[in-house]
Amino acid sequence: MSKKLVVANWKMNGDPEFIQDYFNDFSNHDENSNVEVVFCPPFPLLSMIGNSHSYRIGAQDCHNAEKGAFTGEVSSALLKKLNVDYVILGHSERREYFKESNDLVCEKASTALNNDLLPIICVGETLEERENNTYQNVISTQIKESVPDNIEDKKLIIAYEPVWSIGTGKIPKNEDILEVFQIIREKLGNNPSIENIGNVRILYGGSVNSKNCDIIKDIPYLDGYLVGSASLKPTEFHILAKSLV
Ligand code: PGA
Repeated sequence: MSKKLVVANWKMNGDPEFIQDYFNDFSNHDENSNVEVVFCPPFPLLSMIGNSHSYRIGAQDCHNAEKGAFTGEVSSALLKKLNVDYVILGHSERREYFKESNDLVCEKASTALNNDLLPIICVGETLEERENNTYQNVISTQIKESVPDNIEDKKLIIAYEPVWSIGTGKIPKNEDILEVFQIIREKLGNNPSIENIGNVRILYGGSVNSKNCDIIKDIPYLDGYLVGSASLKPTEFHILAKSLV
């Protein structure tokens, strides 16, 4: 069985001093626990964290091409050489501010898989889509169009992050999260390159913190969390990792 996963998405935060202070406080994660901890800092900080026995590193994005004339971009091949194992793709902030489409996310995920990176593909509805009841279609389409068909026996991670929950302190009811997890599983079942749905881990993300993790941790099919602001506080983030043990 795959380990549970807790992913820190630092977004555009952190610097060398922050890393030093952070890991002074975040040193006691048990490497043998059933929870895998992943840190996704901004690109220039990736090699300052480095893989350790007790955590792995991920990037917050990568380019869809293997290499070439794409000023300012970073390839998955380079990330792999820097010991990166995971890459967050299609985060709602990328979809909104950088106009990333499902097709682009799909191409990025395919290239990431070809370079041995595990994509964490984000999906989630806006408040309007939740309120006008189109969220089921939105999630289904995101899964159908953002997940590539070269998964084979490689592992994949999907993060369900309702846009209205990110950074707002609001989280859906457990049954609403479960409903979306079921949609995700059903749609993934249509992808011919996914032989074993058990190899796909599904995370919840959006305002996860030490106060609400005990409420959501027992949702069926939940394999972990994608965490934004609470991951910037090492003791808080450590509580989230421990809650899944
Ligand atoms: P949040 O962010 O935990 O601050 O809501 C989650 C995310 O954007 O991945």
